[in-house]
Amino acid sequence: MGLEYLWEWSMFALRWLHIVTAIAWIGSSFYFIALDLGLKTAKSAPAGVLGEEWQVHGGGFYHIQKYGVAPDHMPDDLVWFKWEAYTTWLSGFALLSLMYYAGAHLYLIDPAVMPLSVGQAITISLLVLAAGWIVYDQLCKRLIEAGDTTVFIILFLFMCGVGFVLTHVFSGRGAFIHVGAMTATIMAANVAMVIIPNQRIVVADLIAGRKPDAKYGKIAKQRSLHNNYLTLPVIFFFLANHYPLATSTRFSWLIIAVVLVLGAVIRHYFNTKHATGRHLVWTWVVTVALFLVIVGLSTYPLVRTMPTQEAAGVRFDPMDSQMRALVRSDAFPAAQNIILSRCSMCHAAQPMWEGMVHPPLGVTLESEYDIAREASRIARQAVLSHAMPPGNVTGMTDEEREQVRRWLADG
Ligand code: HEC
Repeated sequence: MGLEYLWEWSMFALRWLHIVTAIAWIGSSFYFIALDLGLKTAKSAPAGVLGEEWQVHGGGFYHIQKYGVAPDHMPDDLVWFKWEAYTTWLSGFALLSLMYYAGAHLYLIDPAVMPLSVGQAITISLLVLAAGWIVYDQLCKRLIEAGDTTVFIILFLFMCGVGFVLTHVFSGRGAFIHVGAMTATIMAANVAMVIIPNQRIVVADLIAGRKPDAKYGKIAKQRSLHNNYLTLPVIFFFLANHYPLATSTRFSWLIIAVVLVLGAVIRHYFNTKHATGRHLVWTWVVTVALFLVIVGLSTYPLVRTMPTQEAAGVRFDPMDSQMRALVRSDAFPAAQNIILSRCSMCHAAQPMWEGMVHPPLGVTLESEYDIAREASRIARQAVLSHAMPPGNVTGMTDEEREQVRRWLADG
């Protein structure tokens, strides 16, 4: 049991790190976008200054000037913004591996969608992340002259396609986390592979006394514009994992498409406000309307059936050896009875609990398969901690928790 605690706290620490670095990354990104759009023409500035802005914060005034391509000599101190992005991606990938790869049966694979083995699921996951970046990067390079709107439309269709395919390959949560992870990989790779290398070229030119080429700035700007419009959807995709109504209903793939538009509309409001001071009221109306569309789409429940042995191919067995050992344990029947009587009124496809329409967080505890699959989460929620049942509303006794613990230890 000691390891269980260590694991649980490592996940907590990693998530803490991930959220903090993501806040730092997105925060600085929002800051620079607002700054960039809000620059006023400089009245008496050194040559090469495109615009400037006065700001007040934390007890002092700031006077910021932006140079078009670069200043005419290399400054002594230059602050780079990159580790926010890198640490966010690295901690995110670590979380993905520990939760979705190590816990593939629980989070990534849904045999009713596609009976994948753990190895297959992880391979698909890695391919999606790599291929997502390669396709995106090629699109941007080939379409740099085509105009931002064209690139946006093609990118949007590409991401919708990926969302549709993934919701037919992974569990609902697995699909959403991968649309999010692919988007986040594109955003981090934009920083690591395009924006920062281009800035390095400009810096090298400055040091060598050459005049930097403006095209590097133009390319970096295209990528930074995409990152800007992707920030809100990417946060939605990750948060959605805690909301089964987003991830696990029939039209989840359409919700992905709507969220991409919704995020862009909200960013458009802020970008316009920063650039011109105007408030585009229509964007509020569209935001609310799109959100209601998402609510509407989520009311169509998922209709699915577990594949029978024959339909899935005779060798398919949704349980791995660990799950089978749990179900075969002598302590299983008693534990199953306890879970059915103390948990299943809420954790069922159709909960009996007053006012509950969907199983909380998508956790169902009805069949042997459900219970074996959720074993480690049952341990965390009802044995290691007393988080479940909430407020012990169903009156689970300590003796019953002990029986569940004995089953988990035995299996
Ligand atoms: C009264 C209804 C109710 C009962 C009874 C109940 N739960 Fe829950 N359960 C919830 C709710 C609500 C949540 C979502 C909590 C949240 O949003 O963080 C939840 C969440 C969970 C989760 C997911 C936690 C996570 O963050 O991944 C597990 C696992 C779980 N319950 C197990 C159990 C077990 C085991 C029992 C029986 C011992 C049980 N629950 C009894 C309502 C219930």
